[in-house]
Amino acid sequence: MSIALAMQQKFMLNMYPNRGLEFRRGEGVDLITAGGERYLDMMSNYGINVLGYNHPRVNGALIRQLQDLPALHCSFGSDVRALASWRLVQRTLRQAGRVYWSNSGAEAVEAALKLAVMATGKKRFVACTNGYHGKTLGALSATDGDKYRRSFEPLLWEFSRIPFDDPPALDQVLDDETAAFIVEPIQGESGILAARDGYLRSAREICTARGVLLILDEIQTGTGRTGTFLASAREGIEADIICLGKGLAGGLAVGATVVSAEIASRAVRSSHTSTFGGNPLACAGVNAILDYLEDAELERISRLGLYFRQEMDRLRGDRVTAVRGRGLMIGAVVPERRDEVLKGLQREKVLAIPAGNDVVRFLPPYIIEKEHIDRTLAALHAVLQKL
Ligand SMILES: Cc1ncc(COP(=O)(O)O)c(C=O)c1O
Repeated sequence: MSIALAMQQKFMLNMYPNRGLEFRRGEGVDLITAGGERYLDMMSNYGINVLGYNHPRVNGALIRQLQDLPALHCSFGSDVRALASWRLVQRTLRQAGRVYWSNSGAEAVEAALKLAVMATGKKRFVACTNGYHGKTLGALSATDGDKYRRSFEPLLWEFSRIPFDDPPALDQVLDDETAAFIVEPIQGESGILAARDGYLRSAREICTARGVLLILDEIQTGTGRTGTFLASAREGIEADIICLGKGLAGGLAVGATVVSAEIASRAVRSSHTSTFGGNPLACAGVNAILDYLEDAELERISRLGLYFRQEMDRLRGDRVTAVRGRGLMIGAVVPERRDEVLKGLQREKVLAIPAGNDVVRFLPPYIIEKEHIDRTLAALHAVLQKL
């Protein structure tokens, strides 16, 4: 084990798996060890380095901002923050709206829940089985899963849980006391589970008819990951509250909660703030990513994603029983020995991450080329052969 890993094991809380690798640098699609070994990062550092490493656009913007003014409290004006706010609202809502900036996905969800309470005066929520929304106490109240929740229950407020992709269950569970329904367009952590076409549209219609807010957690599916800026755009719907995070700032810590103007008008000043939220350094990253994600690039993500899925489909058989996902969010279902497949890929110098109990998840950076997909599939094929 490297000295850094050993020290982490000794001095950090034991909260994360140990993948047995230490990296010193990143370049393009690769993470690079101290010895110069390159690993193809087909998971964008858990979905955040969407333009890979050392990307000139991202780094140029960040270095300039680092020199100018990396942090500035939101009680002051910042040109890069103003621009990022305006552009993000434009990109996510057709109607007028506002954004609340934070530093992580879970924080974006925390803000969403509090804003829903302020807008409705109610504290009852509905979330889905297998939903994942983060691990801070508010977000954890929405997250499903005994392993995450058991030690901390009872959690906050009243959360009802319904099956994902089940509009009648949603219709049935809503009542006059319900503030909001929170849902991911594709359940990422639980195994890249996509709902049937039309599910989000039905959920939107039901929430509207019942006077309940719709919160879309697009932390993993958003920022272009599935080939549209928001995955929900595919169904032409608009949520009342949208949560973003992960790759939105090109690798820097960020969370964003975008809300309709009506919800914004009911938010009480000082009821929710963050010292670092909306710092100009992260906002410079956001602007670089928004610049990059013009239509042509989104189309490229779709095209590459289709190729990835189609080629992965060829590996289906005894070991890989299904391929799931959209855009560059792809999962191979490996019902047995999934973790061995992940380790095998790592030995082949390809990095992927688990999802659910049986899925090998790929969230590659948007800058990948076909050759990286081919290399990944060749590695996967080789690993499956050896099992
Ligand atoms: C859909 C979704 N929501 C929320 C989160 C939590 O984000 P963070 O780990 O930045 O708090 C994640 C993280 O994986 C996620 O995928």
